[in-house]
Amino acid sequence: MKTQLLSDVRTAAQILRAGGLVAFATETVFGLGADATNPAAIDRLFRAKGRPQDNPLIVHVADHQRWQLAASKMTEQAELLLRSFSPGPITVVLPKSDKIGESVTAGLSTVGLRIPAHALAREFLSACNVPIAAPSANRSGKPSATTWQAVLEDLDGEIDAILLGEPCGIGLESTVVNCTGDVPVVLRTGAITLEQLQAVAPETQQITSLASGGPLPSPGLRYAHYQPAAKVSLVRSTAEVAAFTQEVLSASGYCGLSALNAGSSVGLLRVFPSTEAYARGFYEFLREADRVGLANVFVELAPNSGIGVALRDRQQRAAAGETH
Ligand code: TXA
Ligand code: MG
Repeated sequence: MKTQLLSDVRTAAQILRAGGLVAFATETVFGLGADATNPAAIDRLFRAKGRPQDNPLIVHVADHQRWQLAASKMTEQAELLLRSFSPGPITVVLPKSDKIGESVTAGLSTVGLRIPAHALAREFLSACNVPIAAPSANRSGKPSATTWQAVLEDLDGEIDAILLGEPCGIGLESTVVNCTGDVPVVLRTGAITLEQLQAVAPETQQITSLASGGPLPSPGLRYAHYQPAAKVSLVRSTAEVAAFTQEVLSASGYCGLSALNAGSSVGLLRVFPSTEAYARGFYEFLREADRVGLANVFVELAPNSGIGVALRDRQQRAAAGETH
């Protein structure tokens, strides 16, 4: 199959409505869209990504009025959070609608609902007028794609089209909040912080640790994520990098907020001016390290506040090196 690069929303929507796979930009990362009411399309989507069948997909709709395309019930918690943070980088988990295929939610009775803020994404979703299942548009396990080139790198020949649009301004995936229990529970950190959620719904909790044995609240937490081929090591200070020999450093990349000592010359260097810029450029840095064939990357841990909390989570997973 030839993957088409499109700038026309109508054509992209036609392809999707006919059962095709279309990648599109959102304000978080690129999504790989398929009609959530078409089981054959969903099956192709899992195969294209190499995604484990038991990891459910988020369903996207164009605006608040269309939530019933994905969910069977709107809870008070979800309504409150959607009113405050959506359209935007938040996904609320709700009871699933019968119209959404079983494979989309990996057999769960709940569905993740998201209304992106990205203008072209909303235009596309609106033109499709079906609920769109869209995981991040990368090979399963790899860093998410924040540019169309990165989508093509992973999925060329596996998907029908990429809708070209404005880049992803945030660069990390949405905050996922379970809104089906007694209190809202954050399953995945993202651009909307726990403090922001608590300002609106004070009882909101962060999922603590992955309870061993019991069912996982968010199946995606089980798998390796965001990992380049290069070995990722987290550092808290640039002195840890400077301790390596020049030979090691030449085969390594470094990214962070702090500049490296003048003496340390690495194979790929990215110093970001702010935590927001760091979040936006982190996945692309990991991908670039693989493109130039580096053996290691040193990643300065992000500050533990604001979007830094989500960035740290992704950094720790990128460095985990094995499934968990
Ligand atoms: O920003 C985003 O959320 C991007 C853009 C494209 O919207 N999408 C994205 O999808 O990151 P994905 O598939 O890469 O991650 C979805 C996460 C997974 O960890 C999955 O397990 C969790 O959301 N999830 C989806 N449906 C769920 C459900 N019903 N209950 C609990 N967790 C769910
Ligand atoms: Mg993903």
